[in-house]
Amino acid sequence: ATQSAYPAAPAHGGAIQFEGRPQLLSVDQFSREAVEDLFRVADMMQPIARRQKISRVLEGAVLGNLFFEASTRTRVSFGAAFCRLGGSVCDTTGFTFSSMAKGESIYDTSRVLSGYVDALVVRHPEQGSVAEFARATNIPVINGGDGPGEHPSQALLDLYTIQREFSRLGKIVDGAHIALVGDLKYGRTVHSLSKLLALYRNLRFTLISPPSLEMPTYIVEQLGRHNHVVVQTENLRAGLQGADVVYATRIQKERFADESFEGYTPEFQINQALVDAVCGPETLIMHPLPRDGRPGANDLSTDLNHDSRLAIFRQTDNGIPVRMAIFATLMGVEHQVRHSMRDA
Ligand code: CP
Repeated sequence: ATQSAYPAAPAHGGAIQFEGRPQLLSVDQFSREAVEDLFRVADMMQPIARRQKISRVLEGAVLGNLFFEASTRTRVSFGAAFCRLGGSVCDTTGFTFSSMAKGESIYDTSRVLSGYVDALVVRHPEQGSVAEFARATNIPVINGGDGPGEHPSQALLDLYTIQREFSRLGKIVDGAHIALVGDLKYGRTVHSLSKLLALYRNLRFTLISPPSLEMPTYIVEQLGRHNHVVVQTENLRAGLQGADVVYATRIQKERFADESFEGYTPEFQINQALVDAVCGPETLIMHPLPRDGRPGANDLSTDLNHDSRLAIFRQTDNGIPVRMAIFATLMGVEHQVRHSMRDA
């Protein structure tokens, strides 16, 4: 990708809007104020996400969860978040079980489903395709990942996790050193997270990848325009020095036309020996997951599983309150949640 597929839309206060409608397609829609408003709603959702409290603010509402690419976390956590607020979920997974396999267009699919459900979450292999769903309907549409484009809800839960972990450690996001490692070309989560972090001040980004998998130029330039320091390197050990956050990614093999992952060797793996050698006691180790657990895989080693710096399962847990906050905000019920809560 050479440029963002999404025009920026204004975000006023807690509203998440795209072309004047309540839709979440890109992190470009967010101001820092809008991010912080959303995170306050996510904090309020925590006891409901943990089933200490119950709220039924979305009772009677139905979510269409359309996943045309593989997913575990995003699909299930969006569904669980909707159910936690009292709603119901209809899932469609894969093209095979959708009439798009018979040639139905995105426009027709979106228009038809608007008559059945109250919100859509869509994952699709083509960049910009979720915006096409959104343009065909007035119901809220959420981008659950569009090819190598964006994954805004993942970036929001990643940033929410960074803020919560930093708060526990007495740190703030402004001034932090963020090291992004791996497939920065096709990894949509690092695209969205970089753009969201760009809203903060005086960050240092170290972008560690082989030349064939570098971060798209338009994102590097966007970080530079916001006066962040950006260093691009192939040297994993040197790049991790002094990092407050190490964010590893999986190589996105499914987005390669062929099987050549030039320059991507086991030296790019984040493992216990490396973390102990070059990271500090408060460095956060993050990954959007899934990590590739097959022999020879090289993103994030399981030997870190019992290291408290590994924040990956705190990230996945935070997916529920953040996605509940996204639904509540898009559907305009965020102010009713507190009054609707009762003990579980
Ligand atoms: N992080 C993420 O998008 O995971 P899934 O592909 O399992 O949804």
